[in-house]
Amino acid sequence: MTTCILAIDQGTTSTRAILFRPDTSVAASAQQEFPQHFPASGWVEHEADDLWQTTLDTCREAMARAHASAADIAAIGITNQRETTVVWDRATGRAIHRAIVWQDRRTAELCAALKADGHEPEVSARTGLILDPYFSGTKIAWILDNVPGARARAERGELAFGTVDSFLLWHLTGGAVHATDATNAARTLLFNIHTGAWDPELLALLRVPASLLPEVKDSSADFGTTLPELFGGPIAICGIAGDQQAATVGQACFEPGMIKSTYGTGCFALLNTGTTVVASKNKLLSTIAYQLDGVRTYALEGSIFVAGAAVQWLRDGLGIIRTSAESEELALAADPAQEIYLVPAFVGMGAPHWNPDVRGALFGLTRATTGAEIALATLESVCYQTADLIDAMQTDWRDARHATPGEAAPGEMVLRVDGGMVASSLAMQRLSDLLAAPVDRPVVKETTALGAAYLAGLRAGLFPPPARFADGWRLDRRFVPTMEPAQRTRKLAGWHDAVRRLTMP
Ligand code: G3P
Repeated sequence: MTTCILAIDQGTTSTRAILFRPDTSVAASAQQEFPQHFPASGWVEHEADDLWQTTLDTCREAMARAHASAADIAAIGITNQRETTVVWDRATGRAIHRAIVWQDRRTAELCAALKADGHEPEVSARTGLILDPYFSGTKIAWILDNVPGARARAERGELAFGTVDSFLLWHLTGGAVHATDATNAARTLLFNIHTGAWDPELLALLRVPASLLPEVKDSSADFGTTLPELFGGPIAICGIAGDQQAATVGQACFEPGMIKSTYGTGCFALLNTGTTVVASKNKLLSTIAYQLDGVRTYALEGSIFVAGAAVQWLRDGLGIIRTSAESEELALAADPAQEIYLVPAFVGMGAPHWNPDVRGALFGLTRATTGAEIALATLESVCYQTADLIDAMQTDWRDARHATPGEAAPGEMVLRVDGGMVASSLAMQRLSDLLAAPVDRPVVKETTALGAAYLAGLRAGLFPPPARFADGWRLDRRFVPTMEPAQRTRKLAGWHDAVRRLTMP
């Protein structure tokens, strides 16, 4: 068979393995879900063993489906749910506590206390992040403080910390390699995105011993080889990136100003800001998009916690659809005269609001309201939230460009979209209408895994440099705005009013 790249996409609810051919077509794939654990309100955990076992199983299954042996695979690329925190025993490889998932809010008080002590400006200046339980740093501190003996063992160098990529890499290499890439390191609250190194002052602030930390490498680099017994022969691991960053690469957003938005459980939009860190004045994050040959490319990021999860709520919570795909069909039957707004703040609101305490609400209900209007409001809620993010991003980006002498103002914005929800043409059309900008849906929808495959294939010599890879990006469909400006203004005003009513004290 043709030599392939194996991409591992370890996500929040499932693990996938996809074999890509050098022309980016998919040779085979496999997927497995694993249990979510909610031990207390606002707590979310994964069994670290599940993350590893589903990785192993899906890789083997994808290889079997493609009749591929280890020798047919030029390299492995790993992409992963970001921020999720694992601390394990270096001697056994076993996690000392379940992985604490990015959605977990248990360290909200610690974050609030650090904020009250005035630490946020300095933390933001160094990491590009904010003091929120979303990120890994306070989760590590929680494990060290709550697992008996953990802090002392960490001080003695017996334990290792990693985001999920590091944990998988450790197991794939039989404990030989403890490393991560710059994009994952950038999500820990411990990594200085300007210097590209772990920051001793942040480690001291969050009381995290340096001995726990992995080595930080480029996103496309030599990360070691798999134990031969895992896949019937050694395979080189040549790429790692957090899932949203991998999607940015998979969407070939290599030029400053390019934006992608991925619709999974949540929605994450990233705008490439080139080699400049743009500090947001609108509550967005600054982060590393990718690091190649030691050069860091940065991004502005907006994170919405509920996107596809709102459609799941229609299915599992309200029971008004049987499959996610039915949401579009139902929404098409909605009465356009009804102005219903859903604010899906099921777990608080992310960017640009960052309000962990609000909860969701529906506005504008009448006796005439049916499931159809609620389905439409649900799809639209994802579009409104994206519009808020993109608006904040464009403002930050315009300010940054104007602040740089000789830089032209940005041109027309085009949003590249991917993830499960982009299958809904209705939602993508509405997104374009509300953004008043084109929305591009690519042919390859497996953008996150493709990005990981690209990073690995670049190192392994199977994929071309970024500019040539970008030439291969293919459009499936461009959505262009068709809504009357007055209607758009009215709808956006209605949404902002709904958010205001919900978030006002
Ligand atoms: O920051 C969290 C993000 O990486 C999770 O992505 O696709 O696993 O929901 P996903």
